[in-house]
Order: sequence, then structure tokens, then C-alpha cells
Amino acid sequence: MTVFIGLLGCGTVGSGVVELVERRADKIAEITGLRPVISKILVRDIDKPREGLVDSSKLTTNAHDILDDKEIDLVIETIGGIEPAREYILSALRSGKHVVTANKDLIALHGVEILETAERHQVDVLYEAAVGGAIPLIRPLKDSLASSDITDLKGIINGTTNYILSKMTQSSISFETALAEAQRLGYAESDPTSDVEGLDAARKLTILASIAFTSTVQLSDVRVQGIRKITASDVRFADQLGYVIKLLAVGTDREGRLSLEVRPSLVPKTHPLAHVSESYNALYIRGDASGDLMFFGQGAGSLPTASAVVGDVIEALRNLQLGVSGHSQHVYANHKPAVPSRDFLPYYMRLSAQDEPGVFAQIAQVFGETEISMSNVLQTPTEDGHAEIVVVSHKASAEHIDTTLKRLRQIEQVIDIHTVMPVES
Ligand SMILES: NC(=O)c1ccc[n+]([C@@H]2O[C@H](COP(=O)([O-])OP(=O)(O)OC[C@H]3O[C@@H](n4cnc5c(N)ncnc54)[C@H](OP(=O)(O)O)[C@@H]3O)[C@@H](O)[C@H]2O)c1
Repeated sequence: MTVFIGLLGCGTVGSGVVELVERRADKIAEITGLRPVISKILVRDIDKPREGLVDSSKLTTNAHDILDDKEIDLVIETIGGIEPAREYILSALRSGKHVVTANKDLIALHGVEILETAERHQVDVLYEAAVGGAIPLIRPLKDSLASSDITDLKGIINGTTNYILSKMTQSSISFETALAEAQRLGYAESDPTSDVEGLDAARKLTILASIAFTSTVQLSDVRVQGIRKITASDVRFADQLGYVIKLLAVGTDREGRLSLEVRPSLVPKTHPLAHVSESYNALYIRGDASGDLMFFGQGAGSLPTASAVVGDVIEALRNLQLGVSGHSQHVYANHKPAVPSRDFLPYYMRLSAQDEPGVFAQIAQVFGETEISMSNVLQTPTEDGHAEIVVVSHKASAEHIDTTLKRLRQIEQVIDIHTVMPVES
């Protein structure tokens, strides 16, 4: 039996989906008993040249050609953004169509509304491709690891910032030069704000944390710091100390209190996450029964992302064939409170000060009085006659570090505290 599919959007991901559905149709029919056929494709510009794959007679610019087509049982959304994607998905669900989407922005911001609508109409809504591209993360957290209490998530889930930081490390270039190169190669958008400010990673963390910690999680629960302030000096100092800088998404559940952060961090060169470079993604998960696990792979791209989308299509077809559609989504009734992290970590601090006798002694005194011991100190003169000082502390709480920073700012000769980052162990 054939199942007709309507595809909303045929860009990077959508064109990969068209290719993969065609290529794998026989295999999918064999494993699900249902043959998927993409019968209509919504685009914005029907005259745009599209490489080989798309049969142009399937293209439409009218969403109702898909949403009102009673023959179509499943809709794949790869338009992106909030509207009109949200309106189209809700309309499809209300008409009893199953939905597969790659849209992290929409799921992070309107996930509850979408999942509840799917539940009410007994249809599936699946979104594996929304986080981590090709890497299966949602399904393992939802199913395979459901027997464990997940306590920790830590990962690199934004390819653009990982590409920029990797280039800054490999080629000793500034943030601005690395960003320009990422934009030239298509790894970063012309407006890179969402990526470099950490918002994209925060949205993905919202989705992952909700499933891992079985709680509704809102974007506002995530404390976000991007990578715009990271300089070539930070990268160089980190290297001298044996670390690389990575933008990490970190979530913990400590006895029902969640701490969710996206922030640049120093990662030891020997740590598995240090080797995740360019546009690759990785997620480390700790569960009480499962122990430690790490997922790694292509976090974006046409076919890698399409492979996750088509994986969801296969699940939806299986459910349809077995008559068990509408049970795959999880809407969590409880909202665990989000609190600042109380975990103890070493911290890296880079500051500039007047290059005068006695200044370093005053800085050391503040550390002594606030009971934070220093594990490493680097000091270099700068061209403008100041001193650049890097301190790596022993383990301390974020609250404790904040007190120390406040005291350091009161020292007259301290010009600025440029960067503060936790150090992973
Ligand atoms: N790119 C990746 O590697 C990646 C990875 C993971 C998840 N995602 C997610 O996948 C989704 C799609 O991303 P993408 O990179 O494939 O985007 P894209 O290349 O910009 O493609 C978007 C497609 O949607 C169509 N479209 C946009 N707005 C429309 C509208 N209002 N009405 C009708 N059609 C419209 C466009 O039509 P035209 O072709 O006529 O312009 C285009 O075909 C996003 O949610 C993104 O976050 C992407």
C-alpha cells in the first residue's frame, strides 16, 4: 500500500529528503509494509532551479494543496522558522495527518502546543532531526535510556560555533576572521546572531533536557552565553594550559532541580569532546543505570539531516501499519525548577591590569580572602604597557567565583576582566 506524503519546503534538508525517500522507497516498503511517495512539495519560488531530483509537476506555492489533500497522510515540514511553519503543522495535525519536522526553533518554543494537538488528534509528531542532525538523540533519550535516571547532558550541539572555534584554534585567527570564513563557506548565516550568541544551542538544549529530565523546559530556563567575546588570546592561553575552547550545552538534574546552561568552556585536550571539530556534534549523557554514553556525528547537512527525517517517517509508517499512531509524543506535566548550577568546577579568568609592582599580590590576596585557590597563573606584558593575567582556579561554585570577580573589579589597577569560563575536567 502507498502512503502519500506532502513535503513543506525543498531547500537543504527538503531536497535531501526527496532524494532519500526515492532511494530508500523499496527498503522502507519492505520494513514497514507501506510505500512512501512524496506527491506534493511546497516551495516559495516555483521557478527556482532545483538540482535534478525534483519532478517539477509536484511543486506548489499553495500550502492548501497539501494541507487539504485527503490522500496525504503524512506531512514533512522543512520550511524552518516559526510562522507559517507552526500554522501549517497545527493545521495538518488537526486534519489527522502525521507530522515529521526538523524545526528546532518551533519545537523549542511551541513544542507543548504541537505535541498536545497531536495527542488530541491521535497522530504522530516526530522531530529527531531538530537536534544533532544525523545523530539519533531524541529516540535514545525517549526510549532506549528511559530505564535510567538521566542526571547529566553535556555536548557540542551547534556546528557553526564549533567550526568558528575550531578555526580560531587551528589557524590562530580572530573570531571575526573565523566568522567571515564560516559565512563564505556556508557554515554560518549572513545574520549569525542565533548561532554565535548561543541561542540555537539553547533551543536544542531545551528540547533535549525536556525529554532527558522528563519535565517541561522553557527556553527562559536556559542561561546563555555565546562566543562573541572569545579572543585569539583566550584560545592561545587555553592551548598553553592544555585545553581547547568549546561552546558547551550543559544540563544537570540534581534531585529535581535543573541547571541548564550554554557557555564557552575550556575542555582538556584529552577529553573526547575536544576532538569534536568543525561542524560535527557530540552529546555526552550520564544516567544512573546506563553509566556514561557519548553520541557523535554530523550535526547538519542535507543528507545527514534527511537521514534523521526519513528515520522518523519510517517510525510513523510503522505506527500507522500497526494502528498505534499518536502515542509517540511525550508531554510532561511537571515543571522542575531551573536554578543556577551548584556544581563545583575550576574556572579560567583572563584580566588586564596596570603593569606595576604589587598588583599581582593584590589579586592573589583577593583569591586568598575569598578562599579560592589558584592552580595556574600566566602573566604576559601587552603592547600598550599593561599586563594580561590568566588565572585558573581550583574547583569552586559559580556563586563563589562571582564574589571573587566583584572583589577583583574593586582593585584600582585592574583594568578589565575580559573572559570567565568554567574548565571541564
Ligand atoms: N540545514 C541543515 O543542515 C539543518 C540541520 C538540522 C535542522 N535543520 C532545520 O531544517 C529546517 C529547514 O532548513 P534548511 O536548511 O533546509 O532551510 P532552507 O534551505 O532555507 O530551505 C527552506 C525551504 O522552505 C521553503 N520555504 C521557506 N519559507 C516558505 C514559505 N513561507 N512558504 C513556502 N515555502 C517556504 C523554501 O522555498 P524556496 O526553495 O522556494 O526558497 C525552501 O525550499 C529548519 O527548521 C532548520 O532549522 C536544518
